[in-house]
Amino acid sequence: MLNRFQLARLRAFRKAAWVEQAFGGKSDGAGARVLCVASGKGGVGKSVLATNLAVLRAEQGERVLLVDFDAGLANAHLLLGVVPRHDLGHVLRGQTSVEEALVGGPAGVSLLSGGVGREVLVNPTRRDLDKIFQVLRPLERDYDLVIIDHGAGMGYATIAHLAATSTLLLVSNHEITALSDAYALYKRAHAVNASIRVGMVFNRVPGQEAVDAAWNRFRSTSQKFLGHAPELVGWVPADEDVARSVQERTPVVRCAPDSASSRAIREVSSWGPIDHARTTRAFYDQARKALR
Ligand SMILES: Nc1ncnc2c1ncn2[C@@H]1O[C@H](COP(=O)(O)OP(=O)(O)OP(=O)(O)O)[C@@H](O)[C@H]1O
Ligand SMILES: [Mg+2]
Repeated sequence: MLNRFQLARLRAFRKAAWVEQAFGGKSDGAGARVLCVASGKGGVGKSVLATNLAVLRAEQGERVLLVDFDAGLANAHLLLGVVPRHDLGHVLRGQTSVEEALVGGPAGVSLLSGGVGREVLVNPTRRDLDKIFQVLRPLERDYDLVIIDHGAGMGYATIAHLAATSTLLLVSNHEITALSDAYALYKRAHAVNASIRVGMVFNRVPGQEAVDAAWNRFRSTSQKFLGHAPELVGWVPADEDVARSVQERTPVVRCAPDSASSRAIREVSSWGPIDHARTTRAFYDQARKALR
């Protein structure tokens, strides 16, 4: 959780970034597009979505980097069926270069694993995050799209990313507890980043009726209290094929491409803003600036 000073800094950045954007900020064109995938409540399907989106985009010919930033409980490697020899923890301790820590996955996706039980990712200081962003910065030149799979909730690392990103996929299921946590994260994301574009995805839902009820509730609450709401990107049904794909360590879009979940994830993957997910300067420079 953020302390008062961390939040105040990120909020001050929001103001400065807005002024820069309004008065002539321009893109240096150097960086990849960046998509953050986050949720309020845990276990709602961020990693399943992030890994499958990465594979789908890579299948279309994009150079995709998936960064598993799940606070020390990384599992994207399990979902992709790869065994990383190194992770972000090794990179930060200088035991390997960031390039060596990458592992190739299905369709040519590159994965940077967060590692399991890495204290530095569970509770990073400003200095830790600054170092991480600095280390990751050169990778932006080598990829078209960077997808960041976050841990659940409003940890400092997640909010620091959201202060800098142009685009967020907010994942929730239809239950009131998940909706309420998603609303809290949406509100916080806007508090630190006025221009963030947020798309909402409902995952593991029983059907259209549940989605309609959940979306109406979320949208009307957001409109009423914040004066704005995210876009509804789509919804992915609860599907046995997803559970099976997790067991088989193969993304569902690969092992069951015609399943209802794969078709739904393909629709999410074609969400237009992913093609324009750029920041005014290279993302990791922007993220470093947000920390100051
Ligand atoms: N559409 C779905 N249908 C059925 N099961 C699903 C679906 N999506 C996710 N699951 C199941 O839920 C589990 C949790 O999903 P996932 O790890 O993606 O959640 P998460 O939001 O990343 O969790 P965490 O907050 O711990 O990072 C998966 O292992 C999978 O078994
Ligand atoms: Mg996860």
